[in-house]
Formats: sequence, structure tokens, C-alpha cells
Amino acid sequence: MSKNSSSYWATDNLSLRFRQKTTMSNKLVEQAKEKFGIIIEEQLARVEEMKKSVEPVDYSTIAPIVIGVCFGDGIGEVISRHARHVLEHMLKDGIKKGKIRFKDIPGLTIENRVKHKKAIPDDVLAELKTCHVILKGPTTTPQAGDKWPNIESANVAMRRALDLFANVRPVKIPREGIDWCFFRENTEGAYVLGSKGINVSEDLSVDFTVTTEQGSERIIRMAFEYAHKNHIDRVTAVTKSNVVKTTDGRFSQVAFRIAKEYPKIKLDEWYMDIMTAKLIDPARRKDFKVIVLPNLYGDILTDEAAQLQGGVGTAGSANIGRRWAMFEAIHGSAPRMVQEGRAPYADPCSMIRASAMLLRHIGYAERAENVEMALEMCGQFEKKMIITGRDTGVTGEEYTDYILSWVDHPQLKSRWESEVHRLK
Ligand code: IPM
Ligand code: MG
Repeated sequence: MSKNSSSYWATDNLSLRFRQKTTMSNKLVEQAKEKFGIIIEEQLARVEEMKKSVEPVDYSTIAPIVIGVCFGDGIGEVISRHARHVLEHMLKDGIKKGKIRFKDIPGLTIENRVKHKKAIPDDVLAELKTCHVILKGPTTTPQAGDKWPNIESANVAMRRALDLFANVRPVKIPREGIDWCFFRENTEGAYVLGSKGINVSEDLSVDFTVTTEQGSERIIRMAFEYAHKNHIDRVTAVTKSNVVKTTDGRFSQVAFRIAKEYPKIKLDEWYMDIMTAKLIDPARRKDFKVIVLPNLYGDILTDEAAQLQGGVGTAGSANIGRRWAMFEAIHGSAPRMVQEGRAPYADPCSMIRASAMLLRHIGYAERAENVEMALEMCGQFEKKMIITGRDTGVTGEEYTDYILSWVDHPQLKSRWESEVHRLK
């Protein structure tokens, strides 16, 4: 072959390869655009839904209030039974009078979810929708490398399916004067399309984060309303709007817009990185009171806060929407504890704290306060029993009985008040 003809073929091959490559990448771009288009349409439809006004639920007019209980799996199964037991105790008059009804909803186990290949099987979701409020035990979230197929987290799916936009997570450390209430946005940010990211090619993956005016406004307004009702003069917004300029930028702008409606409340914005540092700065941390933040930052910061309170096993959370509300622990199902035979020693306090939030939400504020004071008497002050998550401490059942021994104790309030006073 002459030199010329060889270079002729080489050029031709190259241009063919180039043409093929361009066609291929055009195809990938078109496919990605199509998927992106669907995502945008869905999000615009969600915005329209949020714009519709819905009457807030007035639990005082509902009888019976149906409390759905999903036990979850792993330690969830064990600790939600303890929490249900406490709830039943606190509501026994309401149950007798027909004002309260419990509805156990099985089927939110990892085995059943895998069987139906759904984060929440359809029949379970339909049952959940027949309830007014839900107590949900921790559920296993499959992760890469474990034995489960990669179905979505049941928590995330439930928050989205029931539009539970506010994740309210209180953390208190009385001996340090810390009383934080986190308002984590629960239906947007990095979570809303968490399982809808696009693998554009073998080399390129893209995830999405979403912030809407309405979604930001409703959580920020809730935080300000909470501050206003509790005579708190400061709300802190946590973002990374110096870098994530568009979505976090919007969240921040909405916060400053809403703040104008509450002239007695000062809004300050902190970036997520420095905020994680300030939470462990004793000189600064007790000054934070109400903290409002996008979904992923809220997930991270509330684990840190709960750890300072005594561990993620001590914190409960309320997921509040316009029609439904769901109450849960802030931690997962701890499969390792179950494998190691430690499930009976799991700390039920997170779920009992979530139950107290449920009581307050449906109008039983005094009963809720008793559970909260009892939790503090047992966990922070009297400490007659210790729960360690292993056989070096008492079982969850024994600890629940310890809490129950305080909830209706005639000296609960006076003892609790004098303990708190002693700290000041
Ligand atoms: C939480 C949990 C969940 C979340 C997990 C289990 C998906 O960490 O409730 O904070 O990330 O929201
Ligand atoms: Mg979390």
C-alpha cells in the first residue's frame, strides 16, 4: 500500500469515528434532555399543587383520631412497640371515650417492600392515608453493596407521598441551656429527585437539587410562626448560598422576605460548614434557638445536634404536612444491633420523644409535656437506670417502665422544675 493510500484510509477512519462519536453524544444529550424535561414538568406540577389552599386539620373536631402505627424493621420493630405502649397509656381516657383509635399497619418491612419492589407497597400507602397521624418505626434503607435491591428509603417516599414538608426536630441540653428547634425542609432539595438522577453515559452522572418559592416559604414561615408563638427573637437560616447560588440562594432570599413580616424577630444566615463548627462551640451554640434549613443540611446538622444531646437514639422528629403528620425517630433500623443480638437493649427514647410530639400535635399538650419531663428525669437528672444499647445497661422494656413510672408521678413537675432550677 502506498503511503498516500494509507493516510487516506486513516483520515477516513478518523472522520467516521468522529461522526459516530458525535451521533452517539447527540443521542445521549437528547435522552438526557428528555428525562430532564419530564423532571421539570413534574416539578412544575408540584408547584401548582402547593399553590392550592388546604384547610388546616382541626383535631378537636375529629372523632376518632386514627393513629396509624408502622413498626418498621430492625430495632424499629422493638422500639416502636415500646413507644406505642407509652402512647396508649397517655391516651387511655381518649381511647375509652372513642376519641382515639389505634390502627396497626403491617407491611412496612424491608422484606415486604422488596417483595413489591416499592419503597411503600400500594396497600400500605392506602392504609396510611386512612389515618390522621402516623407513628413510624425506623425502616431499613438499602444501600449500595448490601443484600437488598436498591429501592428508595421508606421515610423519603412517605414524606413525599403525604407531602410532609416540615421535619421538626427539637434538641435540648438543659444543663447547658441549649434548646434548639430545627425546621428541616422535607420534600425538596437533594432528596426530591434522589432516585431520579441521570446516568447520562458510562462516565457521567447527574443528580438534581430543587428549591421552590412555595416549598421554601412554607417551611420558613412555620419556623417564624414557632419563634413568634414561643417569644423567641431569633431565627437562623442555614444554607451554602455563597456556592450553591441558585437553589440555596432562593432559600435565603425567601427567608429574608418572610423575616420582614416579623419585625421583632432577627434573621441571621449561616453557611452550613461554619454552622457544623459552631454547634460544638460552647461559647456560641446556646444562642441558636430556631434553625431553618434545606433538606440535606437539615439531615446532617440534626444528627450532629442529637449526638450532643446524648446520641441519635435520643431524638424524635415530627414530619408535618397539610393533611397528615408522621412521627419517627431520627435514626435508622440499626441492623448491626439486631445481628449482634442487641435489639432488646435498643434505646426507645427517640420513638417515645416522637410520641410526645404526636400527642402535642393532636391537642394533648399536657400529656406531651409529662412524657417530655419524664424523659428528662430519667435520661438527664435522676438516671436511676442507664441504657447503653448492650447488656451493660437495662433493656428497652425496663427503661420504658422507668419512664412510665414518672409520667403520672404526683411530683413530676415539681421535681423536674427544681432540677432545671438547680442548673441555672
Ligand atoms: C433521617 C434519615 C433519612 C434521611 C434516611 C433514613 C433516608 O437519615 O430521617 O434523617 O436521610 O432523611
Ligand atoms: Mg438523617
